[in-house]
Amino acid sequence: MTTVPYVDLVKQHAALRAEILEAVDRVLCHGQFINGPEVDLFESNLAGLLGVKHVIGVASGTAALTLAMRALGIGPGDDVITVGHSYVATATSILLVGARPVFVDIGPATGLMDASLLPAALTPQTKAVMPVHLGGIACDMDPIERFCGEHGLHLIEDCAQAIGATYRGRSVGSFGTGCFSLHPLKTLASCGDGGFITTDDSDRAQLLRQLRSLGHLDRDHVEFASENGRLDTLQAAIVNVKLPHLKDWISARRQHGAVYHEALGPHFELTAVTKSCEPAFSAFVIRHDDRDELIAYLAKHGFEAKVHYPIPIHRQTALSSVGSVSLPRTEALVRRIVSLPVSPELDPSDRDALIDTLLTWSQTRANT
Ligand SMILES: Cc1ncc(COP(=O)(O)O)c(C=O)c1O
Repeated sequence: MTTVPYVDLVKQHAALRAEILEAVDRVLCHGQFINGPEVDLFESNLAGLLGVKHVIGVASGTAALTLAMRALGIGPGDDVITVGHSYVATATSILLVGARPVFVDIGPATGLMDASLLPAALTPQTKAVMPVHLGGIACDMDPIERFCGEHGLHLIEDCAQAIGATYRGRSVGSFGTGCFSLHPLKTLASCGDGGFITTDDSDRAQLLRQLRSLGHLDRDHVEFASENGRLDTLQAAIVNVKLPHLKDWISARRQHGAVYHEALGPHFELTAVTKSCEPAFSAFVIRHDDRDELIAYLAKHGFEAKVHYPIPIHRQTALSSVGSVSLPRTEALVRRIVSLPVSPELDPSDRDALIDTLLTWSQTRANT
């Protein structure tokens, strides 16, 4: 029995292989491996696509978060409010700049930041709020933006999983400083690590270019110490080949999502999509009390499902310096979530067979 994988990177790249090899060859021929023309092209194309003034290519999604915070002057003694239901880099990036993550719980339906909990998390040290558009579903940005405006806080969006998602017709990453990942498992991915930052502030964009490049003002002048956090030219060249396909890939994810929604909605608890959000479904997450049994049943019938993420961030050893944190909704949710395959490479007939398998499982249980 062959297994339908959660993602199939080999299939995605087989279709683009010749074009990617040509793009890589062009870089080998011009030899500008650092900040080459492919990086400029990547940045201008993405800025147009996302409706932002500036895109700054960086080495990873984690580098995007840390560099964005450094550009906003966030460091030791500062608090950044975020969620515990995300990939760990959301909060470890805050530790990496010397600041303190302050966690708020999630809304039970969406699993995303509950903006009504922000006032209780505010301290005199709060400098920023970092919502996470997890699974390609945008957070409810109106109250988050309002809260940041009222309290003079920076808004840093963790968009690592959310390229293509919109809120009130605006792309995620256009509300504050947007931090995206190009990790191979993301909807738009490099063949290795990569990431980028979005901003409408031209001075901040300039500072970010310096921050990603060891503090260099130009070839010979270095104004401050900073990391080497640049986006690799070869990776930019590869992502440029993929960019024209992004719209179709997001449509395919939305189509899978719509079919899952229709077929599974009456039988399973689904993750709610935020009002006014058009999701990009980097994950399609359902919930069940017997999550582990469900995943084992799917595996037995040839379908791979995943859990994003079984251990909430505040329970990771890496966060032990933050002290005891209680997020009851987050802790209850992570025991019940299952991510189903939703990538553009997923064959619709495999998706439909997966739906049948889930419905059979649910029916069998109802009858026993
Ligand atoms: C929500 C979230 N934030 C941050 C990151 C970090 O991105 P990267 O792995 O590119 O450093 C990821 C991806 O892995 C993520 O999913």
